[in-house]
Amino acid sequence: MTTTMRTRSLGTTGPQVSALGLGCMGMSALYGDADRAESIATIHAALEAGVTLLDTGDFYAMGHNEMLIGEALRAAPAARREQALTSVKFGALRDPDGGWSGYDGRPAAVKNFAAYSLQRLGVDHIDVYRIARIDPDVPIEETVGAIAELIEKGYVRHVGLSEVGAETIRRAAATAPISDLQIEYSLISRGIEREILPTVRELGIGVTAYGVLSRGLISGHFSRDRQLAANDFRAHSPRFQGENLQHNLNLVDALRAIAERTGVTVAQTAIAWVLSRGADIVPLIGARTRERLAESLGALEVTLDAADLAAIEEAVPADAAAGDRYPGAQMAHLDSER
Ligand SMILES: NC(=O)c1ccc[n+]([C@@H]2O[C@H](COP(=O)([O-])OP(=O)(O)OC[C@H]3O[C@@H](n4cnc5c(N)ncnc54)[C@H](OP(=O)(O)O)[C@@H]3O)[C@@H](O)[C@H]2O)c1
Repeated sequence: MTTTMRTRSLGTTGPQVSALGLGCMGMSALYGDADRAESIATIHAALEAGVTLLDTGDFYAMGHNEMLIGEALRAAPAARREQALTSVKFGALRDPDGGWSGYDGRPAAVKNFAAYSLQRLGVDHIDVYRIARIDPDVPIEETVGAIAELIEKGYVRHVGLSEVGAETIRRAAATAPISDLQIEYSLISRGIEREILPTVRELGIGVTAYGVLSRGLISGHFSRDRQLAANDFRAHSPRFQGENLQHNLNLVDALRAIAERTGVTVAQTAIAWVLSRGADIVPLIGARTRERLAESLGALEVTLDAADLAAIEEAVPADAAAGDRYPGAQMAHLDSER
């Protein structure tokens, strides 16, 4: 891989990280089966290419994803391992049968979650720590305050946020410095542009963008007749159902025409578009194979000029997607959608 890795800063108080981060979720959960050896090889290839930010959640297959990252880090050359920064989400409560049963943001729970994550990752500190969804029963000040205590003790370096709206962002930022907000942002998920993005920019908070390929929907690799396992998030995601899917893949066809004209892939175009939205935004790439990783990293070499950007936005206008980005019950947990 010959990509020269550029860096971006996570807000005014956060760390300098690679311009693309690696989101490891799909290596353990939510998108059907993944190959363990290939997942680890993908993490190693990412580190080798200069990716420094690894994103996970303690609830991605109940610790499986953290243990996978821990194993990959242990097997990586020391120089690469030392450059790696971990971004960890916590708070989601799980059942042994894989169910989801709410969120826990109480200070004692935060410290408990962190203690287990440090063990599973095999690290002495977590670089960015954030609750995945706010706990409606616990003020954000208490959850963020608990992370601030972990920072004082050296177990965490920075406080992050995930899927919260402007008011919560302001309350959190008044409690402790916030490095970044992790939130869905892509050509077909542009809701943050109204209020959330201006708010984080005003406060000097960065963005780690996920779902940049809308979970594969706008990657150019998703086919109309793809069968999804029952435990695949996309089997229940409104955007992947029936007529919505047909409509959304028509948008991808329009994007493909532009990508082909510029000699890059659809996924690279979609990632490059997010990269073009501001130096304060770090896309998290959901690659779980070296092939997908190489394609994603190629987006760093794509320069979209004003004419390209106009053509892309004409092909995929803001709010053009059919279907919400989460099923109804999960939308209800999104403070960012209130
Ligand atoms: N804070 C939150 O609430 C939240 C929520 C979701 C995710 N995240 C984080 O964000 C990360 C990225 O999210 P995501 O996985 O939904 O992102 P994504 O990049 O939108 O989707 C990844 C999916 O796209 C497919 N894909 C096709 N071409 C690809 C390419 N060139 N590169 C990468 N993927 C390609 C992959 O499928 P195949 O592997 O089948 O090819 C994979 O299933 C996650 O790993 C997680 O760490 C955070």
